[in-house]
Amino acid sequence: MNTKQSFYIGIDLGGTTIKTGICDGDGELLAVYEGPTEADKRAEGVLQNIELYVRELVSRAGCSWEQIAGVGAGIPGFLDFQQGLVKASPNLGWRNVAVKEILEARLGKTVKIDNDANAAALGEVWGGAGAGISNVVCYTLGTGVGGGIIVKNSLCQGFNGMGGEIGHLNVVPDSEAIACGCGKKGCLETVASATGIIYMAKEAVIRGEQTSLAAIREITAKDVLDEAKAGDPAAVQIVDRAAKYLGKSMALLSVVTNPQRFVVGGGVAKAGSYLLDQIDRYFREYALENARENVDIVPAVLGNNAGVVGAAGLHLFG
Ligand code: BGC
Repeated sequence: MNTKQSFYIGIDLGGTTIKTGICDGDGELLAVYEGPTEADKRAEGVLQNIELYVRELVSRAGCSWEQIAGVGAGIPGFLDFQQGLVKASPNLGWRNVAVKEILEARLGKTVKIDNDANAAALGEVWGGAGAGISNVVCYTLGTGVGGGIIVKNSLCQGFNGMGGEIGHLNVVPDSEAIACGCGKKGCLETVASATGIIYMAKEAVIRGEQTSLAAIREITAKDVLDEAKAGDPAAVQIVDRAAKYLGKSMALLSVVTNPQRFVVGGGVAKAGSYLLDQIDRYFREYALENARENVDIVPAVLGNNAGVVGAAGLHLFG
């Protein structure tokens, strides 16, 4: 490795895993390292874990600490980007955490933060499924549902950072709404995140529905998708519900920013065309013809790496 070269660290903070990656000046991902978030250790413990993993990554990548020119972090939640503050994170249970200040003190490097899904969207637009498309909306379906909205090649953060909080679009009617971690109910996230899918599966089991899910000890979102593919009626209904409201949210967004492409990533999206085809069907059912023509819904191509590439890129292309 060239000892004069500069590198950039990207951090993707998730509810269960912290992923770190090191990129060169062209945004090329050279190495990754990840470990458990341990969210129960609260903000202080999680930020300590981040430091640990970043230092481990740099030593494994074989470059010196001095070669690190900047650190970027994608954080799930509502942020004040300028101050580097996490105002609230529904899935981590954080409130007013000065992430930039704390990480800069721990790492001795300039730290930029952005929303985790915004970072993933930037990653996909720079070098993934959104490359070359100026109007894109990216979804991440994981512990929560995140969004990154790109309009005319610019990320839409809105006036106080809430732009792109797609997971909290209120799309589920009150009659069937589930409480969300944000304090509201009926959010897209309650039916389309891994957490929401697991919740609905457990509810089906509790209601005593005839379902193969009842035999699974710790149900995961993947179990539900696998059982749905195998034809289990309760699982089919849960996936149909997730797809319906995802498709509906896309129809709404299609008359707000009129994207040419929707990119869908995150753990839940690993179900592939089984899920995407159903989302597509609902999108076309709900969307205006002129807002849906020549619009496609595609899987994210950087997979789990989109977030770290986008976060590292906050210093390069942001
Ligand atoms: C948060 C978003 C985040 C998403 C995915 C949501 O609950 O509000 O900020 O991007 O989860 O992690």
